[in-house]
Amino acid sequence: MSKRETVVVPQEEIVRQKEFLHLIRELNLGKLKKYSISTFGCQMNENDSERLAGMLAEMGYTESQKTEDSDLIIYNTCCVRENAELKVYGHLGSLKRLKKQNPDLIIAVCGCMMQQPEVVEHIKQKYRHVDLIFGTHNLYKFPELVYSSMMSGKTIVDIWESSGFIAEDMPIERKDGVKAWVTVMYGCNNFCSYCIVPYVRGRERSRGLKDIVNEVTVLGQQGYKEITLLGQNVNSYGKDLGEDISFAKLLYELNKVDGIERIRFMTSHPKDLSDELIYAIRDCRKVCNHLHLPVQAGSTKVLDEMNRKYTKEQYLELIAKVKENIPGISLSTDIIIGFPGETEEDFDDTVDVMEKVRYDMAYTFLYSKRTGTPAAKSTEQVSDDVKKHRFDRLLEVQNRISKEINDELLGKEVEILVEGLSKNSNTTYTGRTETNKIVNFKGSSELVGKLVRVRIDKVQTWSLEGTLI
Ligand code: 5AD
Ligand code: SF4
Repeated sequence: MSKRETVVVPQEEIVRQKEFLHLIRELNLGKLKKYSISTFGCQMNENDSERLAGMLAEMGYTESQKTEDSDLIIYNTCCVRENAELKVYGHLGSLKRLKKQNPDLIIAVCGCMMQQPEVVEHIKQKYRHVDLIFGTHNLYKFPELVYSSMMSGKTIVDIWESSGFIAEDMPIERKDGVKAWVTVMYGCNNFCSYCIVPYVRGRERSRGLKDIVNEVTVLGQQGYKEITLLGQNVNSYGKDLGEDISFAKLLYELNKVDGIERIRFMTSHPKDLSDELIYAIRDCRKVCNHLHLPVQAGSTKVLDEMNRKYTKEQYLELIAKVKENIPGISLSTDIIIGFPGETEEDFDDTVDVMEKVRYDMAYTFLYSKRTGTPAAKSTEQVSDDVKKHRFDRLLEVQNRISKEINDELLGKEVEILVEGLSKNSNTTYTGRTETNKIVNFKGSSELVGKLVRVRIDKVQTWSLEGTLI
């Protein structure tokens, strides 16, 4: 057996799951069954929820906007930071009443939180009205689990500890008609000392290159214009395939797919950003001029304690190389504030990196202690007050830089991909530049999914306003 075959779910198993889809559809026949899914966390979870939605559609369920009138409620959870977990418990508590009113209601919880045994135990003890608990590795078994729950009426718990298998060919119902997420790899091998992801998402597993190209080809035929390739560390793509495959090669392949106009990807780890990948971003017309390259912290001491495997200087050199090779590239980052032991001087280094790189955008997070990770054991936890103070300081710096970068676009013409109506408006449409900047403009529905040119006539920190030309 090749390395690959050991991780791909066998076709017979997929067929078996599809049989469960049809069995449930028959049970639901003639009944108006509705579902709702609440998704927490990253785009990968959003993409998993699209898969759940695809399976639910085949089971005969339609989506409801309201939790209260649903027959099947799913919480797809995240455990990267504590506040996402607390929200889930809050929601689960409030469902008790609904379950009392409708005993046939199926309540399911899945996703990263469920890969932690103490969470599952807590839910089993404290939220007895939950019917179905499953994890991240066996999402494709959802049809069988729903069927078992319907038949037995008992709580079904199915969590796989080891890194899961990759299931191809399961149904999917995507949220958007212009942009699509495509997961290219699962898991992470990096074990940054603050992060729970490697424990709950398992080791790195790449999808086959052909499977990805096929998925994107179909998306192109369906009229999708933009894809975002997802993975915890996309730069490692292919390393487990045992063939001469890399993320850069995947980009060159996808660049040829008809219909697709833009390719984005996230997330990249600085230690794995190869020259080959930098050249691929530069040379592939469809790969957007934007790189999300989380720095996490500026201080070399903190980076070492985070197990990031680069120094402040190495990160800055890498950014210089990227800028030199890809002029005009926009850059974004993730930053953690208040990692254990972070001193004021360490934090100054983070501010310094921000000033030197001049990111277009930064996602800043307060450090959240995650049980089971090495950093959680540190006795040098930073107080909430200090974290909040540093957060405000960083935000001020980033807001200024973002505005200054955007100001340079005033009066300029840019190309945007039109995504749809902007929130709370019937006439204002919204799109994004290749560099991932939001542009609002007066337009019409036939422009959705098209690349149009606009002149920027107003600039804000987080968005731009323009006029069609
Ligand atoms: N606390 C705060 N932020 C975290 N992240 C990951 N783990 C934690 C944590 N324990 C952030 C990192 C990562 C992003 C997705 O979430 O910045 O890049
Ligand atoms: Fe977490 Fe680090 Fe892996 Fe990103 S690279 S998912 S921060 S362990």
